[in-house]
Amino acid sequence: MKAIGVFDSGVGGLTVAKELFNELPYEDIIYFGDTARVPYGIKSRETIIKLSIESILFLLKNDVKLICVACNTASSVALPEIRNHFKIPLVGVINPAVKEAVYATRSKRIGVIGTNGTIRSRTYENEIKGLDPSIKVTSSACPLFVPFAEEGWFKEKAVKEVARAYLKPIKQAGVDTLILGCTHYPLLKQVIKEEMGKGVVLIDSAKQVAMEVRDTLGSFGLLNKAARNCRHMFYVSDNPEWFKALAKSFLGQAISSVRKVDNV
Ligand code: DGL
Repeated sequence: MKAIGVFDSGVGGLTVAKELFNELPYEDIIYFGDTARVPYGIKSRETIIKLSIESILFLLKNDVKLICVACNTASSVALPEIRNHFKIPLVGVINPAVKEAVYATRSKRIGVIGTNGTIRSRTYENEIKGLDPSIKVTSSACPLFVPFAEEGWFKEKAVKEVARAYLKPIKQAGVDTLILGCTHYPLLKQVIKEEMGKGVVLIDSAKQVAMEVRDTLGSFGLLNKAARNCRHMFYVSDNPEWFKALAKSFLGQAISSVRKVDNV
């Protein structure tokens, strides 16, 4: 039985895997974290595209039936370029978040935060405007949120100060909806919520992504509906111990086995 492939630049995509495990309990899932080459967020467009193709090819070698691109940077920079080059269904994380945000906003002002690569690509903005051109989008890159989340710094004073600086233009724009456009940001939700205030809805798209994966499998007749014990496998391109140590906070459960792959 074929598995679902999931890839991310590292450990962050486990926030998406967590929802896939909940939504698709009878599916085998193979996760690949490109830990040798993380972070993608600061890399050039060409490099992000190259690394994303290599990660997809690694999963294809494992005979998967669908690939979920759990990384926001890969989804926003690489996916629009490479989607049509693969026969296998590819589900990214941008569109599910955009649909939810457009549905949620009343003031028609949406904020987007993500890595430098994600914000520079303007993919979120273009997709939002594709659904409703009258919406005003304000974006801000928040690169330091990634190491904070990985260090387990969720509410320290330094995090609050950095959040205040990063979120200032978004607050000033008067948004009522904010897309957390990076795998790591759900871990900093509390600080972001405090900074933005109660009236702002935070969109963390992992659940919607999992539903999109389920619907896509359904539309291709590839969904496993019968109850069965399924396998969750984890591969990384470097340092499985680091990945394992961080898994608990991103996935909400410990991982017993992580394999290192040498040639991606
Ligand atoms: N996974 C990346 C994302 O969601 C964050 C980490 C990185 O920069 O690679 O954009």
